[in-house]
Amino acid sequence: MARGERPRSAEQRREALKALYSQVSSCVRCPELAATRRNVVFGSGDANAELMFVGEAPGAREDEQGLPFVGQAGKLLDRLLAEIGLARSQVFVANTLKCRPPSNRDPLPLEIERCRSYLYEQVALVEPKVICTLGNFATKLLRQDDTGITRLHGRAEVIAVGWRVVRLYPIFHPAAALYTPRMLETLREDFLKLPALLAMQAPEQAAELGGSEEPMDGMSRQQGGEDSPQAPQQAQPGERALLGSGEAQLGLF
Ligand code: URA
Repeated sequence: MARGERPRSAEQRREALKALYSQVSSCVRCPELAATRRNVVFGSGDANAELMFVGEAPGAREDEQGLPFVGQAGKLLDRLLAEIGLARSQVFVANTLKCRPPSNRDPLPLEIERCRSYLYEQVALVEPKVICTLGNFATKLLRQDDTGITRLHGRAEVIAVGWRVVRLYPIFHPAAALYTPRMLETLREDFLKLPALLAMQAPEQAAELGGSEEPMDGMSRQQGGEDSPQAPQQAQPGERALLGSGEAQLGLF
């Protein structure tokens, strides 16, 4: 995408997302990951979603299918979404890394850095109101800060992610809740706050960031920092462009 020429209409953004998908599919920025992956897992969902999830990295099932969160953690994510009246097709799901680390090892700092611009582009193109980071890797990356998820979960803050100002809402990773009932309860409680966050007005985009040349790299947070959904406002309907089924191979609905 050319500097200063960020697409604005839902249709233009969706087309640009597809072009980004093609670009990422042949990425070789991380030689080890490029050599060992079966598929790049770009992300999936509504290209115009108000709510975006960012996980850690694809696992074995995701690598096989080229889609994010299709294993046990994904099933839990679907269940928690259903409990707040949302389907997976209404949100956009991406990961910090687009390729599976061999043997499911942790993503390396250099890999995260090499993959970061893809995530920022996805955020700029989907234009979500709320980004829900799942676990430590996504939270630390998007906050550009080392504070852990245990301290941060369940509290939203207005923050710049690349070119886009969003409400960032860190929660525990569903995989961590799979076998720990107390963590599942916490995750469920945090999920229950999402509808009120989504009902709030989208944060103001500082000086029309869409046209700005450089991403703000998560560092320039708006005044007021922490944000809570005490005074829900009417949701903005927005354009809801679902990708057609013919494009399902792109990992987008
Ligand atoms: N865990 C993640 O963080 N991402 C996936 O896509 C699947 C499991």
